[in-house]
Amino acid sequence: MTKTITFANFKGGVGKTTASVLFSYLLQKSGKKVLLVDFDPQYNATEILFKTFGVKGKLKTSLFEAIEEQDLSKAVVNITPTLDILPSEIDLAGFPMHLYSLTQDKTKRFYFLDFLLRQIKKNYNYVIIDVPPTISEFTNNAIVASDYIVVIMQTHQQSLKAAAQSYQNMKVLKEYNPAVKLLGVVPYLVDKRGKVDNEVIEEAEELFQHYLFKNCIMKRERIKMFSKNGITDEDMHDIDVLNMYQKVVNEFLERIEAE
Ligand SMILES: Nc1ncnc2c1ncn2[C@@H]1O[C@H](COP(=O)(O)OP(=O)(O)OP(=O)(O)O)[C@@H](O)[C@H]1O
Ligand SMILES: [Mg+2]
Repeated sequence: MTKTITFANFKGGVGKTTASVLFSYLLQKSGKKVLLVDFDPQYNATEILFKTFGVKGKLKTSLFEAIEEQDLSKAVVNITPTLDILPSEIDLAGFPMHLYSLTQDKTKRFYFLDFLLRQIKKNYNYVIIDVPPTISEFTNNAIVASDYIVVIMQTHQQSLKAAAQSYQNMKVLKEYNPAVKLLGVVPYLVDKRGKVDNEVIEEAEELFQHYLFKNCIMKRERIKMFSKNGITDEDMHDIDVLNMYQKVVNEFLERIEAE
């Protein structure tokens, strides 16, 4: 059965997009069928994935156009035998206005992405949604369309607070999607030996308990290169970073299996 997952945190720049792309990359590599939905008008996930696989040229149909036509299949771009993406462009910024023009009913607005994804998601094992860092029609629609959220939490006090708010927001949205669950909180260690980092981890353990992932992401220069040039798996630094993410992906799979 398809599992749909949103990577969430209302704080910006904490690594949501990087995690969405690397998770998609590693899951498809292991043979899982993956759809990455770039549901952010900043379209960073699209850029990283297109650079990784050398996809060039203008999109035939943008995600927003497909949303307007109520047929997401028109915007699907096939990347590898096991990886597809719904790539975003700046025009996706029109999504909230489009929803308002469709209906004045707030409740109905929450279900639009869910409704559209249902038409295509059966083709995949995993649908991963990357969202902007705000409480918005984007995040609300993504969470209502999801089975799980995974919170990416930097070991900064503000990110812990934002992680807790993201979890809280998910609980509010259970009114619209009772099935959605927190799969876990992935610590993103800014500084392994930092005093604040360790204090934040302790607080997070208390707050999130078993939801806190045992494996974590460390700060690595190589990831900035991935964001700029696409993912590479050539030298030992690439392999080191990919192994670090693979451990988190393995824990993610174990957690889903344990459900
Ligand atoms: N583990 C890491 N080590 C070092 N840099 C990282 C790591 N993960 C992400 N980054 C860098 O941090 C920046 C922000 O990452 P990313 O775009 O994934 O965050 P985001 O939460 O999606 O941001 P936004 O809220 O704007 O969507 C990028 O420049 C990325 O290269
Ligand atoms: Mg992002």
